[in-house]
Amino acid sequence: MIVTYADIDGFKNLSGISFAPDPKYNIIVGPNAQGKTNLLEAMWILSGCKSFRGSKEKDYVCLGGERMSAKIKVLDSVREQKITFEMSKGNNQQKNITLNGVPQKGTKALFDVFKCIAFIPDDTDIIKGSPERRRNFIDMAASQLNPVFVVHITKSNAILNQRNALLKNISQGSAPADILEIWDRQAAHEGTLISYMRNEYVSKLNKICGRLYKTISGGSEELELEYRSNVFRPEEFDIPCGDDAFGKYYKKLREAADYDIRTGSTHAGVNRDEILIKINGVSAKDYGSQGQIKSAALVMKLAQAEIFMQKSKDAPVVFLDDVMGELDESRQRFVLDMIKDMQVFLTTPNVAALLPEIKGKVLHISGGKLTEEN
Ligand SMILES: Nc1ncnc2c1ncn2[C@@H]1O[C@H](COP(=O)(O)OP(=O)(O)OP(=O)(O)O)[C@@H](O)[C@H]1O
Ligand SMILES: [Mg+2]
Repeated sequence: MIVTYADIDGFKNLSGISFAPDPKYNIIVGPNAQGKTNLLEAMWILSGCKSFRGSKEKDYVCLGGERMSAKIKVLDSVREQKITFEMSKGNNQQKNITLNGVPQKGTKALFDVFKCIAFIPDDTDIIKGSPERRRNFIDMAASQLNPVFVVHITKSNAILNQRNALLKNISQGSAPADILEIWDRQAAHEGTLISYMRNEYVSKLNKICGRLYKTISGGSEELELEYRSNVFRPEEFDIPCGDDAFGKYYKKLREAADYDIRTGSTHAGVNRDEILIKINGVSAKDYGSQGQIKSAALVMKLAQAEIFMQKSKDAPVVFLDDVMGELDESRQRFVLDMIKDMQVFLTTPNVAALLPEIKGKVLHISGGKLTEEN
């Protein structure tokens, strides 16, 4: 799919931006702090995902401004669709989202319309950061493939919050301990489904990452991903997801219940999962060099794009924030080869750091305003 038109105004420092992107490369150039990443972010939020750099919605509107709007048209193999996202500041912070002119309740409907993948320098946190960071990566990537996953994640998080609140009430004596069981049944149901989905996605990702990392490292290094469920051993996923699996998850929650009540938090389940990332057999987080970590994060994102492509007729749109210029020539070529069929928006402070074959529309950003180079 490609973005055929973008119009952004009042999003952070951006103002009066309107352009028809190149179907292949769009090179967003400018010195630091001019709005390059903001431009990617403004388009990204139209995919229905939260900001790729963790910005809060309340910060979308320009400081001192009243409202923001971001509009794009996306063309896939079937049709062109228009998405708009408008928000005004103030007490009730009104948000209006439309798809082809029809108002939407939330961003969920956009998920299926505009699919994109972003690479940002912070992606190395997938390797270096907390287990939560890795779980989020897997959950987001799996949701992109199968939006029903979002429903289970949302439900599971809500149950976990309620369960944790209840644990505190039980320990203070303001709630009876036996109602915990009701929550545990629900938590076990959602948690088991999530465990199986995570397992399936990580094993898909592992196969592709292994191949890609071999290539990017010149055939000399191995990258492996392993899903470490807090409840199920790897071989237990060979048994189809059913009553036995729910039962096992439920039992694990019940076993931890007393300890959970004493400590006021949930110690068993998907909120304690880990995804082990190993390079040449040892933990990349603990032993990886900077270059290895950067390459591993890149490969995981590229593998995400490849899995997506296998399922969908339409390639996702790719956002590369400050990524290309940081890579050596052979790695830039590797990335280009992987994304050769996709529309790309990339930012750089320095066009000269890019490979000469990256040619397309050059968009200069200065003080939040855009000018196109002829
Ligand atoms: N809510 C906001 N309202 C107005 N300006 C904002 C808001 N949030 C961020 N900014 C401004 O946007 C600018 C940063 O934009 P952005 O992160 O897109 O820069 P950039 O061009 O990507 O820079 P770099 O090359 O350093 O990554 C900063 O000047 C920042 O102060
Ligand atoms: Mg930036």
